[in-house]
Amino acid sequence: MRTSSLFSTALLLLGGAITGSHAHGACLDASIIAHTGTPVGKEIQYDNLTFYVAEPDRRNPHAKARAKAAVLFLTDVFGLGIVENKLLADSFARAGYLTVVPDLFDGSPAPGDINVPGFNTTEFLAKHVPETIDPKIATSIRYLRRRRGISRIGAPGYCFGGRYTFRFAGPSGAASVQNGRDAYIDATFAAHPSLLSAEEIKVIGAPASIAAAETDALFNDEARLAAEKTLKETDQPYRVTLYSGTDHGFGVRANLNDPQQKEAKEEAFLQAVRWFDRWLLA
Ligand SMILES: *[C@@H]1O[C@H](CO)[C@@H](O)[C@H](O)[C@H]1NC(C)=O
Ligand SMILES: *[C@@H]1O[C@H](CO)[C@@H](O)[C@H](O)[C@H]1NC(C)=O
Repeated sequence: MRTSSLFSTALLLLGGAITGSHAHGACLDASIIAHTGTPVGKEIQYDNLTFYVAEPDRRNPHAKARAKAAVLFLTDVFGLGIVENKLLADSFARAGYLTVVPDLFDGSPAPGDINVPGFNTTEFLAKHVPETIDPKIATSIRYLRRRRGISRIGAPGYCFGGRYTFRFAGPSGAASVQNGRDAYIDATFAAHPSLLSAEEIKVIGAPASIAAAETDALFNDEARLAAEKTLKETDQPYRVTLYSGTDHGFGVRANLNDPQQKEAKEEAFLQAVRWFDRWLLA
């Protein structure tokens, strides 16, 4: 009797060490994050759109509590072209969320190094604007809500994608309204967003969390402080975290040899997961 209860205590402890947590993720830790390696998800087609889909393992203790919720991962301009985005999606799946990454750029994302000759950033950004991106996000939301029976969606957006998490934040979001019923997300997280306007922040109808880089020409101190001021004027819960020692893009591609950057990337990921846990799992 005594031996067996000691044994089960040991098993529990061991289980705790392996899975991180048995509860809703109160003890989620960086061990579920993959920075390098081979992605484990797969690409599918839905309504003329390519998705990278990372399914949670059914044996994952986090997955059951999150079965009705999903993560809609909105990428930077590098999209499905860089392995880091897929690996990050896999990490959200290990946190227990079905995770979908739409190809926002029709198979032609920006090259991993935008300074390569022949790539014109201005041209790229002029081509990929709300008029072409919003419908792809609406399609992704439809896939999750109608095809997959998901009722609550959290959207992490990185750089380029950050703006779009705000555009679809809640039914009142800047893009939600014109993209049809249910075309909104329930919680938003943006890491070092670019091109995000005050008008887009002002109308959000979902909780918003931001991870900001210390050095970021696209979301500098002035832009961050302005965003904070506008967030205060919304009636939504919000959080803004500034990560020291980081540059624009750190949430996806940090210098892993720099302990401060690596830790910041991991903390920003956990910031997103905890935000979704808080607002999606009511
Ligand atoms: C399907 O997507 C491609 C871009 O990948 C676009 O050029 C084409 O017009 C789309 N077709 C339909 C039927 O929407
Ligand atoms: C990039 O594209 C823009 C818009 O088409 C054009 O005005 C500009 O000259 C291009 N830059 C280069 C270096 O080709």
